[in-house]
Amino acid sequence: MAYAAFRSIGAYAPSKILSNEDLAKMVDTSDEWITKRTGIKERRIAEDGEFTSDMGAKAAQIALERSGIDKSKIDMIICATISPDYFCMPSTAAIISTKLGISNATAFDISAACTGFVYVLSIAKAFIESGMKKNILVIGAEKLSAITDYTDRGTCILFGDGAGAAVVSATEDKNEAIIDVHTGADGTFADLLMSPNGGSGSAHDTLEQEATSCFMQMKGNETFKVAVKTLTKDVVDILRDNSIDSSEIKHFVPHQANLRIIKAVGEALGMSDEQVVLTVEKYGNTSGASIPMAINDIYESGRLQAGELMLLDAFGGGLTWGSALVPFAPLQK
Ligand code: ACO
Repeated sequence: MAYAAFRSIGAYAPSKILSNEDLAKMVDTSDEWITKRTGIKERRIAEDGEFTSDMGAKAAQIALERSGIDKSKIDMIICATISPDYFCMPSTAAIISTKLGISNATAFDISAACTGFVYVLSIAKAFIESGMKKNILVIGAEKLSAITDYTDRGTCILFGDGAGAAVVSATEDKNEAIIDVHTGADGTFADLLMSPNGGSGSAHDTLEQEATSCFMQMKGNETFKVAVKTLTKDVVDILRDNSIDSSEIKHFVPHQANLRIIKAVGEALGMSDEQVVLTVEKYGNTSGASIPMAINDIYESGRLQAGELMLLDAFGGGLTWGSALVPFAPLQK
C-alpha cells in the first residue's frame, strides 16, 4: 500500500509591507485597535504586476528544491486559492506549472478559502494512496490585496498576500505517512464571508464593474464565534479518531486569521505556547497560503525537524473547515 508523505515546505512573501500605521492613514482605524483585536502588526502586499501564480511558483520552486525530488517526477499540481490570476480560466495551477517548467502534470485549483491548504492535502493523500499519482506539488497562494476593499475597515486590516507550497510523495513507510485529514463544509453560513459579485450569480451589469467585482465582505463578529467553535471541534474530532493525545503534537498550526481566535482555540484544547505556531503578527490573514507559510516559518527558524508531528487546523469562507495530522517526513539523503 502506498502512503502519502509530507516531504518539504517552501514559502514566498512579497517584500512590500503594509503596516497598521499605513492603514490608519487609509481608513478610520489605529495600530492600537488592530493589534488589540487581531494581533496583526503588518501584512505583505504584492506588486501590481506580481500575480498569485508568481508567488505560488516561487514558493513551489523552494519546496521542490528542498524535497530533493526532480521536477520531471511531479505528476500533479494543486493550488488552493480564492484570488486566482483569472477567475474563470486558466487555472493558477496550470500557469504555475509553466512557470516551473513542468509540462505533463495534472493541474487544477480548488476553492475552499482559508481551509484550502488542508483540502489540497486531503486530495493529494487520496490520489497517492489510490496509486494514481506519486509526487504532488500542493500550493496555497493568495493575492488577497486584489480582492480587498481598502475603504472597508472591517476587512482591509486583516488580509495580506503570499504563498506556501509543499511536496507530498508516495512512501511505503507508514511511519512517514500523513495520518489523517478531515474536511467539511456548510453552505448555510455562506453569507458570513463572501465575494458576492463577479460570478455567474451576478447580474451582467455587475460583471462590468470590474474594479469592485470580487471584493470580500465579512460579518466579522459572527464569523469569529463560529471560527472558535469549529476550529476547536475539528481538533477534538481528529485527535479522538486517531487516538492521539494533544501532548503528542509538536506543532499546532492553526489558520492565521486572528490572534484572539488562535489563543481561544489553543486554550480550549490545552495547547502550550510552545506548541502553537504564530505568524499572524507579520503576515495577517493570507487565507489558503496561511498554513504553509506558517509551516515554512518554523522550518526556516530551525524549529521543524524530521519526524515531528504537526496538527493543522483551518476554517474559512464557505463555510469550510478542516484538520490534518501530518508528520514532517523529508527524504533521507
Ligand atoms: N478599526 C477601528 N474600529 C473598527 C474597525 C477597525 N479596523 N473595524 C471595526 N471597528 C469597530 C466597529 O465599527 C464596531 O464599532 P461600534 O461598536 O461603534 O459599532 C466595533 O469596532 C466592534 O466591531 P466588531 O466587528 O464587533 O469587532 P470585533 O471585535 O469582532 O473585531 C474582527 C472585528 C477583527 C474582524 C473580528 O471579528 C474577526 O477577526 N473576525 C473573524 C475573521 C475571520 O476569522 N475570518 C475567517 C477567515 S477569512 C477567509 O476565509 C478568507
